Amino acid sequence: MSQETVTMTDNRTGKTIVCPILTGTHGPPVVDCHGLYSELGMFTFDPAYVTTASCESTITFVDGENGILLYRGYPIDQLAEKSSYLEVCYLLLYGELPTTEQMDHFTANIHQHTLLNEGLQRFYNGFRHSAHPMSMLVGVVGALSSYYYDAMDIQNPEHRNRSALRLIAKLPTIAANSYNYLMGHPYVYPRNDLGYVENLMQMMFAVPTQPYEFNETAIKALEVVLILHADHEQNASTSTIRLAGSSQAHPFSCVAGGIATLWGPAHGGANEAVIRMLQQIEHPKNIPDYIARFKDKKSNLRLMGFGHRVYKNYDPRAKIIREICHQLLKELDAQQQPLFEIAMELERIALSDEYFIERKLYPNVDFYSGIILRTLGIPLNMFTVIFAVARTVGWVSQWMEMMNEPQLRIARPRQLYTGAAERDYVPMAER
Ligand code: ACO
Repeated sequence: MSQETVTMTDNRTGKTIVCPILTGTHGPPVVDCHGLYSELGMFTFDPAYVTTASCESTITFVDGENGILLYRGYPIDQLAEKSSYLEVCYLLLYGELPTTEQMDHFTANIHQHTLLNEGLQRFYNGFRHSAHPMSMLVGVVGALSSYYYDAMDIQNPEHRNRSALRLIAKLPTIAANSYNYLMGHPYVYPRNDLGYVENLMQMMFAVPTQPYEFNETAIKALEVVLILHADHEQNASTSTIRLAGSSQAHPFSCVAGGIATLWGPAHGGANEAVIRMLQQIEHPKNIPDYIARFKDKKSNLRLMGFGHRVYKNYDPRAKIIREICHQLLKELDAQQQPLFEIAMELERIALSDEYFIERKLYPNVDFYSGIILRTLGIPLNMFTVIFAVARTVGWVSQWMEMMNEPQLRIARPRQLYTGAAERDYVPMAER
């Protein structure tokens, strides 16, 4: 069968280019417009890359219209219900669900790398006492590359794998240290007899003076938050990793760049904004007034945690996390607390109000993840840090996929230049 194509003609010159259409397993086909510059002398113009497929990938598939999210082909709801975060890490990294033996080996490997070098531990003392934990995360993750010369050859697949495992294993330790530094609490060392999520929780919340008591529903809730945030194809932070990685930079530097990108409020900050909004509403009696303002364009206020740029019918992650969130609030007897009372009332009203129904403004994953993290006692400025812990596996999986390509080319987008036309330098005295 002949290859399907798109033909583009430059109306000024009549020159034509025939571009092949490439189809993937799912999702819209893409036009391969490689030859556009060489044949027609033009670039494509696509600010914010909203219609550009920047790479070929086999890791994650998102279908916003139909509310689908697949990791390596597996629907997110099945993974959230049946899998563990570490098993999802294995799946994202290597493409298949592990056998028992593979999982044991992988878990042992992760445990081997949970500790931080004591020298790196001392980095924290250099941060300002009130530093944002994301700034510590960017700095400490970037500094990892100064410690691991034994596995720095990015051309070596074994080295690449070891760097990936180190990042997944150390992020909870780095995140918890940032939290403890801020709180003035002693650092708690990782415990390899615990699962990934339990370990993260005990490093943040345990104190040396008494045993730490785990709550199964809390562990499950955080585990699901991590699974749901593990990857989301070519978002801004992942694209940063791929762009930085294309220059053959070390993965620790690339991931530091990804963390910096995630820190932006338009990317990782939405669940924090949800809690700030709930705090601002203050009391359930103020909800009707706020709902009216959310609907009023002139107020410039939005109901945070509702609506999504990609998921237009519903956010498949929200469906799963909603149940966990309600379960957690019930079990911890938090439903009566004003903040959560407001959240539940907002959810009820928004799901029955014509304005939100008409516009398909469903609660998104951040609405519930914000409530869960808050219920677990995690401070607001740590929310994006938890997101970064979860997303590390997505970042390194995408980096490894790119590094495995037979021909790695440095990424180099082009531009439409609209600045001054060429002109001659004017000496200062003549300006
Ligand atoms: N509250 C009130 N009205 C809203 C909201 C909201 N949260 N979101 C959208 N609308 C309205 C718009 O005013 C617009 O109304 P109109 O058709 O009468 O003009 C309509 O719904 C469509 O809105 P758009 O802005 O076109 O939707 P878009 O897809 O561009 O925005 C976004 C998506 C940015 C997520 C938006 O819904 C929003 O700001 N939500 C609140 C912030 C939030 O929760 N962000 C996290 C998203 S999840 C994530 O990024 C990981």
